[in-house]
Amino acid sequence: MKVLGIETSCDDTSVALYDSETGVAENLISSQVELHNNFGGVVPELASRAHLVNLLPIVDHLLQRQNLTLKDLDGLAVTAGPGLVGALLVGLSTGKALAMAADLPLVGIHHIEGHILANALTADMVFPAMVLVVSGGHSEVIYMPEVGRYEKLGGTLDDAAGEAFDKTAKLLGLPYPGGPPIDRLARKGTPGRFSFPRPLQKDPRIVFSFSGLKTAVRLAVEKLPQPLTEQDVCDVCYETQEAIVDSLLQRLFKAARLKHVKSVYLAGGVAANGRLRERTAEEAQKRGLHFIPPERVYCTDNAAMIAYAGWCHLDAGRRDGLDLDSFPRGTVTTWR
Ligand code: KG4
Ligand code: ZN
Repeated sequence: MKVLGIETSCDDTSVALYDSETGVAENLISSQVELHNNFGGVVPELASRAHLVNLLPIVDHLLQRQNLTLKDLDGLAVTAGPGLVGALLVGLSTGKALAMAADLPLVGIHHIEGHILANALTADMVFPAMVLVVSGGHSEVIYMPEVGRYEKLGGTLDDAAGEAFDKTAKLLGLPYPGGPPIDRLARKGTPGRFSFPRPLQKDPRIVFSFSGLKTAVRLAVEKLPQPLTEQDVCDVCYETQEAIVDSLLQRLFKAARLKHVKSVYLAGGVAANGRLRERTAEEAQKRGLHFIPPERVYCTDNAAMIAYAGWCHLDAGRRDGLDLDSFPRGTVTTWR
């Protein structure tokens, strides 16, 4: 079965082809980072317009590269939410139009389910699993007994983990998105020079909070002689990353213990973080839990994860009608 995936929930326009016989055949991503860079974050209206300009040419390009027409496809999967509604609507309307024109079955995919199932593109998933979803908009711990069944056990009370990286980067004058430069600079950081909070560790709930970290980083930075030296920046990056990773892993493994799972997974853009991947592997090994990190290209937003999730839905017989709507918020829900 050949499924075309479309992802336009934020600032990347992505189109992919998943073939159930051979795997991901294409995963094309047109980044809008340059467009939003001057604004220090994504400008929703600019994102929608850029998706509108880019999406159909990328679909055409993919079909040409694969020597296919729409009629050769078996289904279409499109991110329905959560995300920027204007941006989502561009993908959704395009997906509906293509599905109608070529008489193809259409399924709307929850963006977070896409991120979670990106793990299956790297290796067969082992269940029951505990998944740490960490992206620009989400920090959630999700229990997953099988594909299509999800139970949120907890999440952030304020900022998402990706936001914590992005806000710290902004404070340090680093480019957006902030995760990749912090990941890189932290490697040259000095352990122990700063000490940032890891709140709510004793809270019986599975909850995170990152807003205090942002304030602690700002206060520490303000106390230093200005402008900051390169070593100052690396040291702040090091401790910020340690604080975020400690907070995340403490909850992930607490939840894993609670539900007696066999495996743990990382999902979302922050899953690309080198330190998070390394520490998750160490902690999982100590507890005898299975863990394989998702390939980095499938961590940040991409349509391969949407095409694959689409195949799971279509294969299980699920279809959406042309009344499929976009949604800005909401956790991933069970559909099986
Ligand atoms: O999943 P994603 O591409 O988009 C959303 O659905 O939000 O995640 C984007 C987030 C950004 O906050 C970005 O800073 C973060 O993922 N990110 C990273 C890394 N690469 C991307 N955070 C830490 N380390 C990285 N290497
Ligand atoms: Zn995402």
